[in-house]
Amino acid sequence: MKLLEERILRDGVALNSDVLLVDSFLNNQVDTSLMGEVGRAFAEAARDLRIDRVVTIESSGIAPAQMTAIALGVPLVILKKSASRILKDDVLQTEVFSFTKNSAYQLTLRPKYVRKGERVLLIDDFLARGEAACGAARLIEEAGAQVAAIGIVIEKAFQPGRALLDGKGYRVISLARVSKMGEGNIEFTQADA
Ligand code: G4P
Repeated sequence: MKLLEERILRDGVALNSDVLLVDSFLNNQVDTSLMGEVGRAFAEAARDLRIDRVVTIESSGIAPAQMTAIALGVPLVILKKSASRILKDDVLQTEVFSFTKNSAYQLTLRPKYVRKGERVLLIDDFLARGEAACGAARLIEEAGAQVAAIGIVIEKAFQPGRALLDGKGYRVISLARVSKMGEGNIEFTQADA
């Protein structure tokens, strides 16, 4: 997605060769107009996939996922990163380890919001090592639904997440694929949409 790559080049900050800061339009402040374009790009890429539902992981996945769900005209379901203190029953959980944050959390789905046989488009803001996406896919499949595709706003293509998801047979739609970065330099490889 050319518009997204241009925005990353303009406002993204490569902290080092591993971490890209995009808090001015994605993680802290959200550019709602750009997110609208992101949502339309995912919806267009998934138009033949008969998507019943968009699923995302709190918190930074919510903005792009909501715009995608609006563009597709389907509901949005949010996976939480901690067990609810109110809802103790009727939840599916799986442990996810974040290498970026060096900590584990319990990814949680209320299965009543993802039904058996449904086709799900999973959306997240970043793909690094693919742990969060794999955990989310596990929960969706445990609920009896199918992951029709995984939409990623920014893929760090130099990290192993993409190979992991490809290896498991998931269709990955990344709108921007960063191939290399360092101070003052961000390079892209061919995106999926
Ligand atoms: P993985 O799921 O692909 O294995 O990724 P990892 O655990 O390493 O990433 C965990 C968190 O760090 C995620 O946010 C992810 O979006 C974020 N992250 C990973 N790499 C980058 C990066 O280069 N830049 C930025 N800005 N974020 C990155 P999270 O914990 O889910 O936070 P949030 O969604 O609540 O914002």
